Amino acid sequence: MSRTHRIAVLAGDGIGPEVMTDALRVLDAVESKFGFSTERNVQLVGGAALDATNNETPLPAETIAACENSDAILFGSVGGPKWENLPPDIQPERGALLPLRKHFGLFANLRPGVCLPSLTHASPVKNELIPNGFDVLCVRELTGGVYFGSPKGREERDGETVAFDTMIYKRSEIDRILRVAFTAAMGRGKKLVSVDKANVLASSVLWREVANEVAKDYPEVELSHLYVDNAAMQLCRRPDSFDVLVTENLFGDILSDEMAMISGSLGMLPSASLGGKKEGSELYFGMYEPSGGSAPDIAGQGIANPIAQILSVAMLLRFSLGENDAADAIEKAVSAAIDKGFRTGDIATGAATEKKVGTSEMTDAILAG
Ligand code: NAI
Ligand code: MG
Repeated sequence: MSRTHRIAVLAGDGIGPEVMTDALRVLDAVESKFGFSTERNVQLVGGAALDATNNETPLPAETIAACENSDAILFGSVGGPKWENLPPDIQPERGALLPLRKHFGLFANLRPGVCLPSLTHASPVKNELIPNGFDVLCVRELTGGVYFGSPKGREERDGETVAFDTMIYKRSEIDRILRVAFTAAMGRGKKLVSVDKANVLASSVLWREVANEVAKDYPEVELSHLYVDNAAMQLCRRPDSFDVLVTENLFGDILSDEMAMISGSLGMLPSASLGGKKEGSELYFGMYEPSGGSAPDIAGQGIANPIAQILSVAMLLRFSLGENDAADAIEKAVSAAIDKGFRTGDIATGAATEKKVGTSEMTDAILAG
């Protein structure tokens, strides 16, 4: 009997539905090749849901229910000028993405920064620093730290306005994100850099302590520590010295954008947001989406790069469904299409060796590989 998995498919707005169509074609292909199937529950989210509910909500109850009844969520992107002037709490990103992360306790954000060797021209980093490309995984804690800590607020003190936030971490929160990072490192180059500010912050002192404790359970992984300011510098100075990097929420927000920039094109970068492990399993419930947004400037033209969405499917297969061979096959096929010279507009240079293609031709090239 073939393996069956359930996924919720939320394409959203802008280029979301275009690249989702292509990502699902790739999923179809690996399903028949590797002998498993997915039941896909397709639902509205973001602006598409607002339009369908007369601006009531970007995250309808049916959409949440579909996600609850699935092994993973495949997400496109949400938002666009049409919904920009709605009240903040029902705007596509604030009203759908953040509540989904919160509802499912998606505490681990995995963002690979990958620049294939043949695309280093797209990177603003000096090409001699990344002769073999760039391939670093950033693991960011997503539901704790200063973004969520209390007290948080603003008040008058001694005739002056003060505003404050609290950076707070529990041992258990640090432990679980470190385990995700160590597990990811085991599946890659077995080198983990934990980033903190332990020379100044109490929460970072605890972070470093817990990292050293958890390391004992992963003796094969080489753990090192960097202060965040130094990490930001080293990413530019010797980007290829990193394998996996793990850090708390605020530092990860900043460093993951720096890494995305080093890799060159947003259209190439997937992401995963993981919650708890499924009972009795090494697999996580998770939400998978491109690192970029809905790209309204190019939506509807059939020219968006589908690779970020396609690689999001690969991450979903690996972390939530355990279909590792299918995930590997997708990643290999993407590299092969790039090596053969296929380029969407965002990664094209105009060189004579390139074959400039649109969304669906890029996917055809990947399917052929
Ligand atoms: P964006 O990521 O949508 O676009 C930035 C630039 O990157 C644009 O020039 C766009 O054409 C390009 N780009 C992005 N993905 C691409 C792809 N796959 N292929 C080729 N080019 C690509 O960010 P922006 O412009 O700041 O936001 C646009 C809308 O998306 C806004 O409404 C924003 O709120 C929303 N957004 C949604 C996110 C999500 O759903 N997770 C994340 C970020 C923004
Ligand atoms: Mg950010």
